[in-house]
Formats: sequence, structure tokens, C-alpha cells
Amino acid sequence: MSKVKDASLAKKGAAELVWARANMPVLAQIRKRFEKEKPFAGLTISVALHLEKKTGILLETLAAGGARVFASSCNPMSTNDAAAAALAAGGKIEVFAWANQTSEEYYSCLNAVLDAKPDIVIDDGCDLINLLHTSRKGEMKKIIGACEETTTGINRLFAMQKAGKLLFPVFAVNNAHSKFLLDNQFGTAQSTVDAISRATNVILAGKTVVVAGYGWCGRGVASRMKGMGANVIVVEIDGTLGPHESGLHRALLAHYEGYRVMDMPSAARIGDIFITATGNKNVIGKEHFALLKNGAMLSNTGHFNVEIDEPALRAISKRVFDVKENVEGYEQKDGRIIYLLSEGRLVNLAQPSGQGHPIEIMDGSFALQALCCELLAKSAKAKGKMKPGVMPVPKDVDDAVARMLLASKGVKLEAPTAEQKKYAESFEEGT
Ligand SMILES: NC(=O)c1ccc[n+]([C@@H]2O[C@H](COP(=O)([O-])OP(=O)(O)OC[C@H]3O[C@@H](n4cnc5c(N)ncnc54)[C@H](O)[C@@H]3O)[C@@H](O)[C@H]2O)c1
Repeated sequence: MSKVKDASLAKKGAAELVWARANMPVLAQIRKRFEKEKPFAGLTISVALHLEKKTGILLETLAAGGARVFASSCNPMSTNDAAAAALAAGGKIEVFAWANQTSEEYYSCLNAVLDAKPDIVIDDGCDLINLLHTSRKGEMKKIIGACEETTTGINRLFAMQKAGKLLFPVFAVNNAHSKFLLDNQFGTAQSTVDAISRATNVILAGKTVVVAGYGWCGRGVASRMKGMGANVIVVEIDGTLGPHESGLHRALLAHYEGYRVMDMPSAARIGDIFITATGNKNVIGKEHFALLKNGAMLSNTGHFNVEIDEPALRAISKRVFDVKENVEGYEQKDGRIIYLLSEGRLVNLAQPSGQGHPIEIMDGSFALQALCCELLAKSAKAKGKMKPGVMPVPKDVDDAVARMLLASKGVKLEAPTAEQKKYAESFEEGT
């Protein structure tokens, strides 16, 4: 039995689903094939993704492929209650999610989708997979595999793998080119700018906007903030934390893009709006709060609410007060007020100001999820083919999604000729 905030919102949510469906042509194509082939017949898929309209279309696609689908959110603030109500009312998907949950409620929903005894898991941030490897170890045997949606989840999975603790195969959906090049960069960019605008209603032109982290998310946000007329500063670190370039190289990329690049203590003194996008913790912490200008606005678009050290900010504040939806004020002993957006959680998804990524972006990301789930289902039929560990999305799947996305925009490209292929793969010289 689904558990949502308000079932009477179903009509409003259904209209949102119609709009999302109309703008997700790639998933529509996959869904048509799934309806015929039923790749998930007899299987249960449990999902923890930001529970909103675009996710709804992925869930419908999986259900159309014959799966029993159970869905929760991967973030306590990101559920769209109307979309959740509509999906629950549809009767094909069991939904356990509502906006602005306590931590206990959030985990009760994750556990509810795992109570369905899934064969396949879709995760965003690795909380479901982590539960299966810790408090619900007994249920792991049934799992065929999982798909992980975001960078932070992939980082956690690699850490589990390194420690010899990852016990089933997981597709690193985030690391497919059709995902991070588009979703992390352009999706996070537009939705973060949009959410900050909606939450604050202040003009971005002329503001000094500090973007911490120049990964795919950060570079997208910096570029769009620049486009809005903001003076953008990029903060990076001297170190390598993920599988990509070091912070040093990313700082150089930002420099050559024309941004001012500096460390956080320097940026803290001059920034008007701060956006963390690092996947790391305490990026803005106690030592920085003392330096901030009166009225500085802090926000985070990285996966977890650990990038801004909110407990430390609360501890040094004279008074913490609600300003408006998605904005809280932290009055300092010296009279300065520091504003925190959406409790330091993913600003682009926190309700009500966060709408999440644009629909077409999620068409690509969720097409990858649907096709990777299909690969897992096929592997189960072919028994024991996939080994535990983090697996890349196969190149043909990644390319197929890119091709479908391009086709949906009316773009058709020539394939390389046999001669061009041979030349590109040889040591042949030009003359
Ligand atoms: N908001 C969204 O909708 C959304 C979408 C996709 C990913 N994400 C999340 O955003 C975060 C970033 O993702 P990404 O793909 O850009 O990751 P990434 O690993 O490509 O980039 C992170 C960057 O942050 C830098 N960094 C780390 N610690 C830092 C610090 N203390 N100060 C300054 N810079 C620091 C790293 O050097 C790196 O360049 C992750 O948590 C990811 O899960 C959010």
C-alpha cells in the first residue's frame, strides 16, 4: 500500500506526468518495446530516486516492461507530492515518499521499498545499496544487480569495492557519457540557477557567485551563472578526490574559461551567493562563516547536505529563523545574517523551489537506467554472467541513448566510412 502526503493531489500530478511524458521521446520508444517484450516479467524493481514527474515516467516504463515497481525518494526534501500521489493512484507503482521528511521517515520509506524483496535496485546516492549491505544483508542473495545514478553514489560504491564489501554488480550509470556530460553539466546548471532564482527572487546579474567544485556539475552551474550576468568565482582544491582530473587541473580549466579561481577563505570574503558542487564535506565551514558578508546566501547542489557545515553554523548563530520557503536566516553575534537555502540540501530538487533537471535531460539519464535494468534482467536469465563490482555502462548502450536523443532533436549524423575507421585506428601517416 502506497504512502504519500496527500492523495487528493493526484489530478494535479497526473497533468504533470502528461507533460513529462510528452517531452521524453526516448523513454517512450523504450517503453513501446518493453510493452511487447516484457523484459521484467516476474521481477521486482525497488527504486530510490528523486520522486518527481520525470522519475514517474521511468517507473511507468519499468512497469510497462512487466516489473512490480516500488519507489521511494533518495532525498528527504525532493519528492513532488502531486507526482507521487498520481503515481500511487495509477495503481501500478507502489510509492513511499513525501516532501520534507524527517530522517526516520526517509529511512522508513527506503526500508519499505526493500520490504518488497527486489531483484533489481535503482539507487541515487547509494543509500538503498548501503542498507542492503548493512542492516538487510540477508536479502542480498536475491539481488541480480543495481544501477547507480549519481557521482556521490559511484564514489561510495568504489569505496565499498576497494574494501572488498560490494557484493553484487552495479552499473555506474552516472559515468556513462550520455549521463554526466548532459545531466551533471546542463541539467544541474539550469535547475540550480532556476531554483536559486525561485527561492530568493534576487537578481543574479552583478552578483558575485562562488561555485565550489569545478566538476561536471560545477562547470555547468558556473557557465549558466556567467550567462545570467553574475561575476563567477570558482573554488577548487589542491588534490585528487575522484576518478577524474585533480582539483589542480580543474582549477586550470576554470581559469582558462575566464573565471577568477581562488581558495574558499578568499572567496568567502567577497561572495554574495555560494553554490557547493563538490560531493565533499564541510566545503564551507566554521572558519569561513566568520568571513562571510552580511546577507551572503549559501546553497548546495551536491548530493548530500554535508557540503555546508550547517550544524557548525547553527552552533555559532545567535538566532536561526525561517525567512520564507527554502530560506532560513542565521543571525550572527556581530549582527550579520547569513542565509541558507533549502537546509543545505540539493537546492535544485528541494521542494517547492526546486523543479529538478529539465525533462529532456532526464529522458537520457532514465533511458540509460531502463536499458541497464534490462541488461541485468537478461543476465539473470543467462545465469551468473555478471560479477559483483562497479560496472561501466556498455559503450553500445551509451551510444544508443545518445543516438536516440539526437534523433529526437532531428539530428542525424554520418557514420565513419570503412576507410576513415581504418585510418583512425592505424598508425598511418598523412602526407
Ligand atoms: N544537483 C544535482 O541534480 C546533481 C546532479 C548530478 C550530480 N550531483 C552531485 O553533485 C556533486 C558533484 O558531482 P560532479 O559530477 O560534478 O563531481 P566531480 O567529482 O566531477 O567534481 C567535484 C569537484 O569538486 C572538487 N572538490 C572536492 N572537494 C572540494 C573542496 N573542498 N573545495 C572545492 N572543490 C572541491 C573536486 O576537485 C572536483 O573537481 C556530487 O555529489 C554529485 O552526486 C548533483
